[in-house]
Amino acid sequence: MKKVGIFYATKGGTTKAFAEQIAAKIGADVINIKDVEINALAEYKTLVLMSSSYFFGALAEDWGSKVKLLNTIDFSDKNVAIVGVGGQERHPDSFCSGVADFYDKLAFSGVRFIGEVCSSDYKYTFSRLQHGNALRGLCLDKADGDKNEARINAWVESIKKYL
Ligand SMILES: Cc1cc2nc3c(=O)[nH]c(=O)nc-3n(C[C@H](O)[C@H](O)[C@H](O)COP(=O)(O)O)c2cc1C
Repeated sequence: MKKVGIFYATKGGTTKAFAEQIAAKIGADVINIKDVEINALAEYKTLVLMSSSYFFGALAEDWGSKVKLLNTIDFSDKNVAIVGVGGQERHPDSFCSGVADFYDKLAFSGVRFIGEVCSSDYKYTFSRLQHGNALRGLCLDKADGDKNEARINAWVESIKKYL
């Protein structure tokens, strides 16, 4: 089985760039979800599921119906890390909410979710990804510039033992 696969959807390329930045740090394959069938996820022990958010917290379009097919894969022996890309300033009431669909779809799959982050590092009013004082995955915002690198580094450190 392959080790780490980053599966992403993007509209304008920002999520792709972040996916490549993460891959360079953890040594993962980077796959655009629009180029593969959902079965491609089954080949990996650890999955990083990534997307930007659109239209009040929806996944980027290329995830499309594929997110509904996630439960056709056996996740019981897998790790999943969620990474959302969004904009706090313009979309504070749905920040990175789209990727909460990954959590909702897999919550009862037996998967091990890895890589929660502390919500106090961000400025937004609502996110479907929030759980107590945490976000259920790493959130990145292009407008935060260099802060993203520090966020990625801390997050990589926190999931390292599963990679
Ligand atoms: C029409 C539109 C709706 C958006 N809605 C959200 C949203 O609900 N939540 C959020 O966090 N970001 C939202 N964004 C911001 C994008 O997710 C952000 O610009 C992201 O960097 C785009 O990444 P991509 O180029 O990989 O698609 C929205 C952007 C646009 C243009």
